[in-house]
Amino acid sequence: MNKEKITVNHFQKAKAAGQKISMLTAYDYTTAKLIDQTGVDSILVGDSLGMVMLGYENTLQVTMEDMIHHTKAVTRGTKNALVIVDMPFLSYHISVEETVRNAGRLIQESGATAVKLEGCDNVLPQIKAVLNAQIPVVGHLGLTPQSVNIMGGFRVQGKEEAAARKLIEDALKLEEAGVFAIVLECVPAPLAKLVTEKLSIPTIGIGAGPDTDGQVLVYQDMVGMYEDLKPKFVKQFGHVGEAIKAAVADYDREVKSGVFPEEKHTFKMEDSILEKLY
Ligand code: KIV
Repeated sequence: MNKEKITVNHFQKAKAAGQKISMLTAYDYTTAKLIDQTGVDSILVGDSLGMVMLGYENTLQVTMEDMIHHTKAVTRGTKNALVIVDMPFLSYHISVEETVRNAGRLIQESGATAVKLEGCDNVLPQIKAVLNAQIPVVGHLGLTPQSVNIMGGFRVQGKEEAAARKLIEDALKLEEAGVFAIVLECVPAPLAKLVTEKLSIPTIGIGAGPDTDGQVLVYQDMVGMYEDLKPKFVKQFGHVGEAIKAAVADYDREVKSGVFPEEKHTFKMEDSILEKLY
């Protein structure tokens, strides 16, 4: 289990040492605290919270306030893992100045260490400006969910030669700009391997095969709690949704039959005092 606080340097050292990096999403204090006790290197407060926490169809409605609110809870529960926060849709698209202000707010108000943002050419000046403000940045290429409407759905990216070449080019541009890691989402495994070999910074894959330098999954997906979407790349390491439903059904049954609460769950008072109340 990791006892030391993970910094951005750990990512670089892990890649150099051929040591895989583990990352999971979290959006609340209790979950972050549980994850942090396991040795997972990094917690991503992803804008996927729009879907798994807030019930939206995609991530486009997530706001700066949503991200700050959830990230504050996560950092309160995290001692060791590196906390990265997603910049939400439109918080880094309007101007360089607005991007730096929003990235600064996310770090200052939430206590996260780094921001992640999606894309390359359209946001390169913003990435450079955020880095100039001394805020570590993670890039995100491949399936970039904030572009879902342009992409025409959540689809694997980089299957064709031109798209694959563009993805390699973009990854190199992001590395040159100074990001300390790149998330590769839903890209063919051989392409993710090639990108990983070409970069000196780590790649973190989600639906990108086994050869990236690390892996990230959405927590609700991997513990088996979120039923709306089941992407092919998700492995369910638990069936927490079933466990929750069973526990809640037991509670419902016991409340309705009067089995709960039992004596051990109740508080007593002196009979002499009680008598005076009647
Ligand atoms: O929002 C998110 O959770 C993400 C991961 C899927 C990488 O960006």
